[in-house]
Amino acid sequence: MVFRKISVMAKIFDARDHAVVIIDNTPVLIVKHNGEFYAMDARCPHMGCGVLSDVEDGHIAVCPLHKAKFDVLTGDMVSQPIVMPERKCEFNKELQPPLKTYRVRVSPEGLLEIDI
Ligand code: FES
Repeated sequence: MVFRKISVMAKIFDARDHAVVIIDNTPVLIVKHNGEFYAMDARCPHMGCGVLSDVEDGHIAVCPLHKAKFDVLTGDMVSQPIVMPERKCEFNKELQPPLKTYRVRVSPEGLLEIDI
């Protein structure tokens, strides 16, 4: 496990509880929940076209397209996509839930580091 420093100051989470950063061309959602940082792959596995950029209840990421929900603490899908007409959802073959999660820590300089 190797933590990589990213150009995001932990201090920005004094004013917000989540942010999406791009690491190696992949969107990663970072949340600060109960004083701890968590990170999760931000690509929605349903069709792979949504970026999980909305957060509710401090740690539940919501896809803006069909409202599938994922727990950033575990990567688990906690609510299915809402599609009409109702039918079994097809998921992107490369992005099956649970989504990948990453450990996050703060460097001595105050930058976030992600175990990615
Ligand atoms: S693309 Fe995210 S729920 Fe459909």
